[in-house]
Amino acid sequence: MKILVTGGAGYIGSHTVIQLLEQNFEVVIVDNFSNSSENVLQSIKEITGKEFYFYQGGVEDKELLMTIFREHQIDAVIHFAGFKAVGESVSNPLKYYDNNLISTLHLLEVMKHFECKKLVFSSSATVYGKPEHLPILEKDKLSTTNPYGTTKLMIEQILRDFSLSDNSLSIVILRYFNPIGAHESGKIFENPKGIPNNLMPYIIKVANQEIKELQIFGDDYDTIDGTGVRDYIHVSDLANGHLKAINFLEDYHGIETFNLGTGRGVSVLELVKTFEKVNKITIPYKIVERRKGDIDACYADVSKAREILHFESLKDIEDMCRDSYLPFQNK
Ligand code: WQD
Repeated sequence: MKILVTGGAGYIGSHTVIQLLEQNFEVVIVDNFSNSSENVLQSIKEITGKEFYFYQGGVEDKELLMTIFREHQIDAVIHFAGFKAVGESVSNPLKYYDNNLISTLHLLEVMKHFECKKLVFSSSATVYGKPEHLPILEKDKLSTTNPYGTTKLMIEQILRDFSLSDNSLSIVILRYFNPIGAHESGKIFENPKGIPNNLMPYIIKVANQEIKELQIFGDDYDTIDGTGVRDYIHVSDLANGHLKAINFLEDYHGIETFNLGTGRGVSVLELVKTFEKVNKITIPYKIVERRKGDIDACYADVSKAREILHFESLKDIEDMCRDSYLPFQNK
């Protein structure tokens, strides 16, 4: 099978491409390097020893998509490409609606033109907003608190309507919880351009002494130690969830949504302490005020993915902390 991976040079995309190549899929990557860099492509080749096709450009470029589908018999698409910084989406919503929605619509139109029927879409637990109960189920209420999350919710709705219009389509929506960690080789890792948004890249910057101390956004939440609780999942486990989804689509028609998490909630302080323990390093921190829009706790009910996709996260929080720092050891 030949798989088109949009955003395949990105953090989750590159880890997924590695596993696709290792399972002998043919891979075509399209990426504009807006939040990734070209050297990731070289690392993928070094890790797998395999070749793949690459097109540089944005998914909003319909002509580029037409060229890709003319030059390759694409059997399925895994759609990662999209802007994902919550804060930036609040200050620049039009950039997010334009990029995330238009690129997805152009992709779907070209897939329809070439009768490519299989799609795995990268969604996010952010579509649950403030969860009504925990752990979170796929059928729970959806609501968003920022434009980034709203683009994910809108695209999910577009896919549900698209599926209703054509029962030969096979679509899986994957709602990621909090991906962290890196490939065991240490050759690829989360390397966001500009100021990081997420917790682990900040911990890494403190570990590398690029910043003096970690700011912990509030310790007065209704959680085990007052700091925010999240469902951290190793990026390699998350990548494997995409292969399970591709296999599921082999003989499925319709649309299905799955949570991809571990089902376990971990607090900020628990993550920091684990990172310090496994990497034998001190992470200085300061408790500051809450970050606007944050919720107390969020973790997944993963039983649907376990039962239907036969998905299981194998790595624990110590593996995630160890692998996150691996690329920066002995530098
Ligand atoms: C995790 C915890 C913070 C940074 C976001 C997006 C979501 C998804 C995953 C794309 C929270 C605390 C963080 C820091 C801190 N992304 N924190 N100091 O907010 O759960 O989810 O990333 O799909 O859409 O919303 O992740 O890593 O930003 O925060 O104390 O410097 O760490 O308060 O409790 P979040 P995060």
